[in-house]
Amino acid sequence: MHFKDRNCFWLVGLWCEMRSALVLALALALGQVAMASSEETLLGGAFKVCSRSDPQLEQCILDSLNGARDKLATGIPELGIPSLEPLRGTEIQLREGEEDFHLQLVLRNFSWIGLSDFIATKARIQFSPPYLEFVTTFNNMSLTGPYEFGGSVLMLRINGNGDSYLNWGSTLTHRLRLEEEQRGGEVYWRAAEYSWQQDVAHVRIHFKNLFRGNKRLGLYANQFLNRNWRPAYAVYGPVANNALADTIKRLVLDPFLARVPVSKMFAP
Ligand SMILES: *[C@@H]1O[C@H](CO)[C@@H](O)[C@H](O)[C@H]1NC(C)=O
Ligand SMILES: *[C@@H]1O[C@H](CO)[C@@H](O)[C@H](O)[C@H]1NC(C)=O
Repeated sequence: MHFKDRNCFWLVGLWCEMRSALVLALALALGQVAMASSEETLLGGAFKVCSRSDPQLEQCILDSLNGARDKLATGIPELGIPSLEPLRGTEIQLREGEEDFHLQLVLRNFSWIGLSDFIATKARIQFSPPYLEFVTTFNNMSLTGPYEFGGSVLMLRINGNGDSYLNWGSTLTHRLRLEEEQRGGEVYWRAAEYSWQQDVAHVRIHFKNLFRGNKRLGLYANQFLNRNWRPAYAVYGPVANNALADTIKRLVLDPFLARVPVSKMFAP
């Protein structure tokens, strides 16, 4: 390698050789720094990598999640993570009960906004068997898309299809039970069970075109849902949380876990 530059022509050869050596040493040192910092960040620097033996591991996981929000918003294809702003999908289905008390709500081609706008506040991890629990606060999530609604909510019969808008804020506890699997000499995690429990702070709902566009009934039903979301959530919360958690598992968690071996998620 030659680091001689055109300033060397008026200097004695020895000085130029020394300078070349210094430049080379500096270049090597910078290379070391660059290598060290790429070990501290997971694939392209999206997440801060925490050490399993870190006594502050849980705080490190929180910092890692909170530090990744902007990257999550745009998506991290090399980690299998789609764009979260918005997260788009083909279907979310809620089904509950039977006969007179059944409820079916399907959202198609949905757009989910606000998923990257969280603050992670608690984390707990265990490596064997692998288990992760964390809490995130969301102030403003919305789901929009064409809906189909049929059945009864708290004894009120509702039906219709059209455009829907759901907006809510919650403190969400994620529980993730993992299983290990070996592939190509690496250990991967698989989500055996992923569940959501939401402590919901506020809800706004609007279904357009309920009752085949009957304005008076549609207005009444939307007002009813907005006034009674608390008792409705007490009944339908579990089925709603299952449907939402399953959507995140399918679109975000499973592709990430399939792509990234455990050795890349945590340093020893
Ligand atoms: C959902 O999107 C697909 C493909 O863009 C389209 O064919 C379908 O009609 C859409 N469904 C609804 C209910 O809008
Ligand atoms: C919530 O997010 C929507 C975008 O989905 C935005 O239009 C609205 O202003 C936000 N509301 C608050 C209170 O931040």
